[in-house]
Amino acid sequence: MKTKVVVVDGKMPDREALREAVEILKRGGLVAFPTETVYGLGADALSAEATAKIFEAKGRPATNPLIVHVGSIEKARELVKAWPEEAEKLARAFWPGPLTLVLPKAEIVPAGVSAGLETVALRMPAHPVARMLMEEAGPLAAPSANRYTEVSPTCAEHVLKGLSGRVEMVVDGGSAEVGLESTILSLLGDSPEVLRPGMISAEAIGEVLGGIPRGGEEKVVSEERARPAPGLSRKHYSPRGAVRVVERKLFLELLENGGESRGFLGLRPPAEREGEVREEVIWLGEKPEEVARGLYGGFHTLDGLAMEEIIVEAPPRAGVWEALWDRLRRASV
Ligand code: TXA
Ligand code: MG
Repeated sequence: MKTKVVVVDGKMPDREALREAVEILKRGGLVAFPTETVYGLGADALSAEATAKIFEAKGRPATNPLIVHVGSIEKARELVKAWPEEAEKLARAFWPGPLTLVLPKAEIVPAGVSAGLETVALRMPAHPVARMLMEEAGPLAAPSANRYTEVSPTCAEHVLKGLSGRVEMVVDGGSAEVGLESTILSLLGDSPEVLRPGMISAEAIGEVLGGIPRGGEEKVVSEERARPAPGLSRKHYSPRGAVRVVERKLFLELLENGGESRGFLGLRPPAEREGEVREEVIWLGEKPEEVARGLYGGFHTLDGLAMEEIIVEAPPRAGVWEALWDRLRRASV
């Protein structure tokens, strides 16, 4: 299969330019498209046959369920058995946006999408391209558009690196704004639980619900903590280079010594290095939003330079930084 690439304006996509992507989705094919978090590998969420192709293209085990993307709250309600008050509150506060809710699945969603679980993960993405595709083609099942365990793509080029020849089309709508995958919150048990931290923090969710969800109170999740969702395995989001996270002092020392195939992802350059250009040294910025936006691109770039080791400067730990730590821990397994 030859993968077609269609470039569109990410902010104001032209409906006509997306026509072929819509046709592919409607006849059960795969299209990778931008969302505000990362690029997704999409298929018609209500087709068992179409969604099976996602697992095959990614090399993803059938035990790892997919997120279903919807264009509206009304559509979300059609795909679940129950829509609790918490879901309504959270959807109103954070949708469209990087929050995924796990709820009891309605029959209409094929079993394979949820890996046989009785639940379904739902998200309404904010990206105009994703929204237009869903308007035309309905709900889309879409995991991140990378091969299994590899780093999520934040631009079309990353998608092609992993999935060229395995997906019919990639819609290139520019770089993903958020850069980290959505926060996943389960609304199944007695109380809400964060299954995967993201840029919508447990604190922000707590403000809407009137109490911090479980899984959100610990600032640093222990490595040994059992993962409640089948797909949230430890080794994930991994670049080829070995990732080492070190405090700033050691980071700057290692930077000084360089090393043959050592790449660096830092927060801000020290005064004496400002303006210095080294292709293997990337400064992400100091705000959590900046680090989230640049982290995966940094991994992809340093992998492209065949760096055997990737040294990452340890970010702060509290609040929304937990999402960054979660990905760094998994990348360094
Ligand atoms: O931001 C995102 O969430 C991106 C974009 C494309 O929307 N998607 C994404 O999908 O990160 P993926 O498949 O790479 O990660 C989805 C995670 C998996 O770890 C999976 O186990 C979990 O969501 N998940 C999906 N359905 C679930 C369910 N019913 N119960 C628990 N976890 C679920
Ligand atoms: Mg993924």
